[in-house]
Amino acid sequence: MINKQNFEELFNRHLIKDISQEEIEIVLSGQYGKALELLRDAEATGLFPALVGPPGVGKTILCRYFASLRAKEKKNQSFYWITLDESIKPTHFLGSFDPAITLKKGFVIEAFHPGPLLSAMLEGGTFLANEINRATEYSQNTLLEPLEEASIAIPHLGRIKADNNFFFICAMNPEELSGTHRLSEALKDRIKVWIKLDYPQKATELDIIRINLPEHFVIEESELELIYSIIEETRKNKIDIEIPASIRAGIAMAKLLGRQRALEKEKKISEKDSYFYLSDIAKHVLLGSLKPKPGMKVEDIVESIIARTLGG
Ligand SMILES: Nc1ncnc2c1ncn2[C@@H]1O[C@H](COP(=O)(O)OP(=O)(O)O)[C@@H](O)[C@H]1O
Ligand SMILES: [Mg+2]
Repeated sequence: MINKQNFEELFNRHLIKDISQEEIEIVLSGQYGKALELLRDAEATGLFPALVGPPGVGKTILCRYFASLRAKEKKNQSFYWITLDESIKPTHFLGSFDPAITLKKGFVIEAFHPGPLLSAMLEGGTFLANEINRATEYSQNTLLEPLEEASIAIPHLGRIKADNNFFFICAMNPEELSGTHRLSEALKDRIKVWIKLDYPQKATELDIIRINLPEHFVIEESELELIYSIIEETRKNKIDIEIPASIRAGIAMAKLLGRQRALEKEKKISEKDSYFYLSDIAKHVLLGSLKPKPGMKVEDIVESIIARTLGG
């Protein structure tokens, strides 16, 4: 186990202190530019937005980018985000009393550790509730008062009013995808700008893969096209596939191919053609990147996609 002193030093070195200084490499063409504009419109009018889309279409990166722009403009670095699921309780948003201090001193403010929502409300920062429809209704209800009245009650301490600059964003997968609760009607009614993100257009997706490929990994344009054709094939096949390959899968394939090309350049392996590498890489990436429809075997789907796009 890491020792205490080492932990503190490493922790401080790796701490994200300022979101406005964070380098976020983002492609803003196509749907992303439009979505960013809508986020800005929502902010300017004091309406709370939601980003809705399947996994891996860029919801989180867009929120982080938006929060970093806001942080720069408002000169306020306050940005908090949590990813929700069934195990999240209201105290994860609000904060809680430290049992040891509370035992000694009672429910005093000194004993209270503020949570991310309360912190963002007090500091006038941005709060992102990621995967909001995976939270139980019990936890979703914590958000009703902050969104409607810009206030929140902390047991034993009192009710606070949020700073004027407090802003809330949420992101979620479309409700029809299994494994998610519904967003409660009450919460839905308080979110007023719905922004849909989907798998991007080809040119945008290729740009996203390029921007995410480390500089020392160089692949040909024709190889990028092949990777895209594999990804696209998974999205066309709606009969066998419930959730197709996301942008992440394309990035992963490009990185793995880039590594093979780098090894070739260093003469560590002999040169082979794209089809040779990609049929293997596609198998390893797609195996866990697709969700087949019930009764379908992912291996069979992957085989047929490879045969169709790469031949044989
Ligand atoms: N517009 C974009 N520009 C750059 N990278 C992107 C963009 N959209 C998605 N990505 C990349 O795709 C991956 C998935 O994005 P993410 O925001 O985590 O998706 P989601 O939150 O919708 O699941 C990440 O690696 C992210 O960096
Ligand atoms: Mg996400």
